[in-house]
Amino acid sequence: MAKKTKKAKAKTKPAKKPARKVVKLAAKKPAKKSAAAKPTAPRVSKKPFGMDGKALDGVRILDFTHVQSGPTCTQLLAWFGADVIKVERPGVGDITRGQLVDVKGADSLYFTMLNHNKRSITIDSKHPQGMRVLNALIKSCDVLVENFAPGALDRMGLTWDYIHKLNPRMIVASVKGFGPGPYEDCKVYENVAQCAGGSASTTGFRDGPPLVTGAQIGDSGTGLHLALGIVSALYQRIRTGRGQKVLCAMQDGVLNLARVKLRDQQRLAHGPLTEYSQYGEGIPFGDATPRAGNDSGGGQPGRILKCKGAPEDPNAYIYFITQAPVWAPICDLIGEPTWKTDPEFATPRARLPKLNQIFARIEEWTMTMTKFEVMNACNAVDIPVGPILSMKEIAEEESLRATGTVVEVDHPVRGKYLSVGNPIKMTDSITEVERSPLLGEHTDEILTKVLGFKASEVAEIKNSGALSAPEKKEKAA
Ligand code: COA
Repeated sequence: MAKKTKKAKAKTKPAKKPARKVVKLAAKKPAKKSAAAKPTAPRVSKKPFGMDGKALDGVRILDFTHVQSGPTCTQLLAWFGADVIKVERPGVGDITRGQLVDVKGADSLYFTMLNHNKRSITIDSKHPQGMRVLNALIKSCDVLVENFAPGALDRMGLTWDYIHKLNPRMIVASVKGFGPGPYEDCKVYENVAQCAGGSASTTGFRDGPPLVTGAQIGDSGTGLHLALGIVSALYQRIRTGRGQKVLCAMQDGVLNLARVKLRDQQRLAHGPLTEYSQYGEGIPFGDATPRAGNDSGGGQPGRILKCKGAPEDPNAYIYFITQAPVWAPICDLIGEPTWKTDPEFATPRARLPKLNQIFARIEEWTMTMTKFEVMNACNAVDIPVGPILSMKEIAEEESLRATGTVVEVDHPVRGKYLSVGNPIKMTDSITEVERSPLLGEHTDEILTKVLGFKASEVAEIKNSGALSAPEKKEKAA
């Protein structure tokens, strides 16, 4: 097992860290008159905001997740104060520890950036002594989160009935690729979900192939959905006293994010989609929502335009929206004041067939300035624009460091690295980003301090080989 080292915190968060105490949430007695009675409100805290613990203090998570979708979810819960115990396979751990390795011998950024603020215990779930530890964890945790392939949890013996009997308060939360139906048994990764959820068919240019997006809407997007399901189930449990199953299928999560494209699918039955560039270009629509290039999904014509430096600088571009309410200041800025009143340009409807001409003129103007100069000029008159920021620019952006959205974290093996902190900011639950755990770093601590195993029991479990890698097992046998 890796040597235990003190956790390093990201520098950007000065808030005081409360001790990692785990208070089990007591089941509320059922209300006598109305089963739907609201939980009794506690007294209003007199402590300063940010000094009265964290939102999920007292919640303990049995984190059986791996790769990206599940870990995204449990990382968020950890940032809100939950005690997240990550169960990993002895010797190997989460497969991402060894994927896309940049620093030899260190956990990859893939792993470290998705597993902040967690504790790690290694357990072979298929070993009887491993199951003994898992049983104890199930009894002492509030939520089990997993994203194994369909059926894998059941094959371990951890069926819903088994878990619910052992701990009726346990919430069992799962990410799967597909919900019940013809594909429910399929294994799924990010891009499979983007394709199956309707994102790929509606992303890209009309005359090109479908495209996947760089944002991990299938994995991280579904993890985010699952986190909301879990906190809602925790809230309902205060009233009902019992756990429930929470399922987020990646296909569903992607479709939820691609909702506007299903909107457009239905609008097609009533005529062409006039805000799509292809309408202005006179190209007929088919029977499915087409790919719309960089058109805006909100109905206002928008394009990505070159700025000074493009195309040599691949990111010297800006997203420009010709929103109807700011048409007049746009005309003034680009030096076409007559377009404000000229009937050929004055109304959104009149502009639709001329979007190529209009954006070409706006681009003549944007190309005279850097993307940041365009942004300043436009925002000065309330025209919303989006500079295309590279990851390098984002990593160096001071305001993102100041808010803790980009944090520098210290790791005992890899040294300092950048991570994305909690994007959800709360005034009374301040996030401090801690480094990810080494494989099995907290095994002893969890066995003794969380689960209360005696020294002799710990020795028995360890000697059985249930917590160690196969080669150590052979020695132990
Ligand atoms: N001890 C013993 N066995 C363990 C273990 C542990 N601590 N942790 C995992 N395993 C076993 C599982 O029981 C399973 O064994 P089985 O198939 O014999 O029952 C095996 O490891 C593999 O697990 P699986 O989830 O199938 O991993 P995989 O690498 O084959 O597939 C995914 C990976 C992501 C495709 C799959 O897990 C999946 O489809 N998950 C749901 C969708 C999802 O989250 N996808 C996105 C991931 S970012």
